[in-house]
Amino acid sequence: MKKVILFSVTVCMTLFLIFSCGGDADRETDAPEPAPEKKGEIAETEAADGFPGFETLAEAADSEAWAEYFPNEFEYWEATEEMRMTTYGGGGRREAEGMDIEKMDYLEMYPFLKINYAGFPFSKGYYRSRGHIYALTDVIDTERIPDWDQRPAACMSCKSTDVVVLIDKHSDDFFGMPFAEVVGKNTVGCLDCHDHRDASVKVQREWLFEALAHESFRNIKPEGRNDLTCAQCHVNYYFHEETRKPVLPWSTGLSVEDQLEDYSAARRSDEWEHEITGALVAKIQHPEYELFHEGKNINIHSRLGLGCTDCHMPEKTDAEGHTYNAHTWTSPLVHVEESCLRCHGSWGEEATIKKAESIQGKVYAKQNRIGAELAEFILALGEKKKNGAIPEDELEKARKIHREAQFYWDFIWVENSNGFHNWQEAHRVLDNAEALIKEGMEMVK
Ligand code: HEC
Ligand code: HEC
Ligand code: HEC
Ligand code: HEC
Repeated sequence: MKKVILFSVTVCMTLFLIFSCGGDADRETDAPEPAPEKKGEIAETEAADGFPGFETLAEAADSEAWAEYFPNEFEYWEATEEMRMTTYGGGGRREAEGMDIEKMDYLEMYPFLKINYAGFPFSKGYYRSRGHIYALTDVIDTERIPDWDQRPAACMSCKSTDVVVLIDKHSDDFFGMPFAEVVGKNTVGCLDCHDHRDASVKVQREWLFEALAHESFRNIKPEGRNDLTCAQCHVNYYFHEETRKPVLPWSTGLSVEDQLEDYSAARRSDEWEHEITGALVAKIQHPEYELFHEGKNINIHSRLGLGCTDCHMPEKTDAEGHTYNAHTWTSPLVHVEESCLRCHGSWGEEATIKKAESIQGKVYAKQNRIGAELAEFILALGEKKKNGAIPEDELEKARKIHREAQFYWDFIWVENSNGFHNWQEAHRVLDNAEALIKEGMEMVK
């Protein structure tokens, strides 16, 4: 956080200097030319000492190759293998040493999902997300599009450091290549967030810069923030119609209403005609970044200037006194002492977890209740439609309600914090979904 403040102060001072020269535009100055910005660089990070850098992107794609220079970060990165269960989060259950890791099957846990996603691949396979080390395995094993001939390389976009190498080589042609041709052995790792030459923090996915060009932020100025590395993947997206490149639907803003407006401009790759109602509905994808930083309500933690890394990558000190950041991305509730107690010290560990879980519990209950209500509405509308018991104009109106309600509900349902990241906004969006479902239910009673 300190760095962010320092950075903002520098920016403000620079702006002040620029404006204060306003009346004197012709005067020669001997101020040095600003260094040309390397695209993707995050301004505030410095190069690492003693790291010779990698000659090629391909060498750097193997995270193990970084281990000898950065043993602390590597060790923590490897630990994303551990399954850590919390009340509402964590990757899954590991019952005992030597047992298979149990992936949590959402379709079994929440039967309404098969109805809500009917006709879309998510109704075929949907597991709880887990640590970065599993990203590649999980996309290889997915039951959503079992036939590899049908799968574009774009499915790899957020699963592997190899993508950085392949985009460098094939440019945007990468995204439409066959899956089998691009699948390698490297999962999410160092090269996804760091420059291979000097290890500085770097955004490696071009599509984020395309989204940031919309300048649609209200709450934060994202430039220079470490958590842009997370915004490469922990955001809602769809694939571009022709190239299959990920597009973040931020043209009109980041709130759920703004994103719905973006979707309404043209049919997106992840929209489909619902098998039961025929409504055009969208599949939202994990909008952690948007919910945390934006919305009609802005969460206290974002307003305080915190970013993803403050809670998910707390600072550590090793035996030699070097400070570094924990690279095990997991639930912060397994390390509240490092992530929360510097501010909530007066609450203590147990009460902090309790307060967080009490917030999550209310959102969790509501999102599941509304998920089930949505399924009921879908089935009721489907019945009416099948029996020809609803006039065409009423059917269109009910489909519009279905589209909108599902967009709002899914936005919160798939967001992985169970409301913690922005609880007021989560309740607001879910309440809007529920009001729409009620209105729809009146029509199909
Ligand atoms: C290149 C894409 C990518 C980037 C960059 C990325 N993530 Fe992830 N993250 C994923 C994927 C994919 C998963 C789910 C993997 C799975 O389920 O197999 C995931 C899962 C997670 C999880 C869940 C872990 C668990 O045990 O359930 C957390 C927490 C997380 N990421 C935090 C972050 C944070 C914080 C950042 C930024 C510092 C970040 N991620 C950057 C792709 C990414
Ligand atoms: C998901 C993004 C992400 C991945 C993957 C990642 N890092 Fe980082 N790393 C960061 C961010 C963000 C920071 C800056 C954290 C801060 O200053 O608060 C950082 C900081 C560092 C630093 C500076 C010292 C420190 O720990 O703060 C080193 C060195 C480093 N990372 C090495 C690695 C290595 C080696 C790997 C692979 C094993 C790796 N990182 C993987 C995002 C990532
Ligand atoms: C103020 C602290 C805080 C900040 C900042 C924060 N998170 Fe979280 N995050 C949490 C908590 C608490 C949870 C809930 C964990 C649980 O349920 O056990 C969570 C959950 C998650 C999860 C699901 C992890 C799991 O165990 O299932 C992901 C993924 C995630 N956050 C990503 C992000 C991203 C990306 C950002 C930045 C946009 C971010 N977080 C910012 C505190 C934070
Ligand atoms: C930079 C300081 C800071 C950090 C770090 C921080 N918080 Fe907060 N948090 C606040 C402030 C300030 C408030 C609003 C005032 C209050 O309720 O104490 C708040 C509010 C909350 C609330 C709402 C309290 C209520 O009932 O209204 C919860 C729960 C919470 N934080 C949990 C956490 C957890 C869990 C973490 C770590 C993952 C965390 N916070 C990290 C400063 C912080």
